[in-house]
Amino acid sequence: MMALVYLGSGRRAWQECPQPVISQATDAIVRITATTICGTDLHILKGDLPAVSTGRILGHEGVGIVEEVGTGVVAFKKGDRVLISCISSCAKCSFCRKSMYSHCSTGGWILGNQIDGTQAEYVKIPHADTSLYALSSDIDDEAATMLSDILPTGLECGVLNGLVKPGDIVAIVGAGPIGLSALLNAKLYSPAEIIVIDLDDYRLETARSLGATAVISADGKTVEAVMTMTGNAGVDVAMEAVGTPATFDICQSIIAPGGRIANIGVHGKPVEFHIEKLWSSNITLTTRLVDTVTTPTLLKLVHSGQLDAKKLISHRFALNEIMKAYDVFEHAAETRALKVVLKVGN
Ligand SMILES: NC(=O)c1ccc[n+]([C@@H]2O[C@H](COP(=O)([O-])OP(=O)(O)OC[C@H]3O[C@@H](n4cnc5c(N)ncnc54)[C@H](O)[C@@H]3O)[C@@H](O)[C@H]2O)c1
Ligand SMILES: [Zn+2]
Ligand SMILES: [Zn+2]
Repeated sequence: MMALVYLGSGRRAWQECPQPVISQATDAIVRITATTICGTDLHILKGDLPAVSTGRILGHEGVGIVEEVGTGVVAFKKGDRVLISCISSCAKCSFCRKSMYSHCSTGGWILGNQIDGTQAEYVKIPHADTSLYALSSDIDDEAATMLSDILPTGLECGVLNGLVKPGDIVAIVGAGPIGLSALLNAKLYSPAEIIVIDLDDYRLETARSLGATAVISADGKTVEAVMTMTGNAGVDVAMEAVGTPATFDICQSIIAPGGRIANIGVHGKPVEFHIEKLWSSNITLTTRLVDTVTTPTLLKLVHSGQLDAKKLISHRFALNEIMKAYDVFEHAAETRALKVVLKVGN
């Protein structure tokens, strides 16, 4: 089969690879019909995640048709159309029993990381019964692909951890696919205001079209702008959706007393936490690796039309054009790329 292979820092190729085979009774082989590229795949290519070995097939998002199941798989059979979660879960270990699938002792985020991923014609899914989701025919491949990672991340790490409530003033720092998916999810909870902050004017325009009540171009005066907008009170929820010290700093500077800072971004460097200012502010700071426990809820919201997942898609390619799709995704500022969907035969 063909697959997108990581060949070491800065190098990738679409090349022939051995087809995956069942090795555990709980495995399933899925024929990919749609997949996408994540910012995290770019981090891997930059060499930011050294644990990913050369030769690894990338990708942790996708939709497909079950090709084969191990003898222990009971929930799925050949021919079933399924959503692949970016998090594999055994549903039995102590972390899974606490709904913390991201820390599953034999799963978690392993696809396209510790085991071969979804940017391929076929993928092996461990713990298939509890890592795949059946898809009804009214949810198409494009919408479903947004449910593998970005929509649960925005909902769980941003909105649920941030305890967004009706009437809240919410700020989202970063308007990439993750920040925008946090925006779509936050709207479900009727906050009074959603302020989106980014450096990229096109992404801010997109945020507005998706329901941001105000946007701020990050230019060094971001904190002052937010404080002016909020009558010097600050925001009830500040979501960090970039992963840099500068954007974490914005969040801690704009949080109102009693507010919640919900960190979503993957951080490679330490940040300075201003406890000397915040100790008396009754704030909460949360961190989370997406657990994908909200996938069943998100499937219902897409099914009922309350969440238009496809609004986050900017480009579509055939799977065998994935090298070109990476070029587009890597140059998002020029190409205006958000989510880039790769499809097979549809
Ligand atoms: N916690 C989790 O489980 C989880 C899951 C998936 C992704 N992530 C992380 O979420 C983060 C966002 O992902 P993404 O795919 O949307 O990334 P992205 O790179 O597409 O978007 C980041 C956005 O931040 C903006 N930005 C950069 N510096 C800024 C600054 N100083 N001020 C304001 N805006 C700035 C960029 O213009 C860009 O639009 C990444 O760190 C990613 O690794 C976390
Ligand atoms: Zn991802
Ligand atoms: Zn587990």
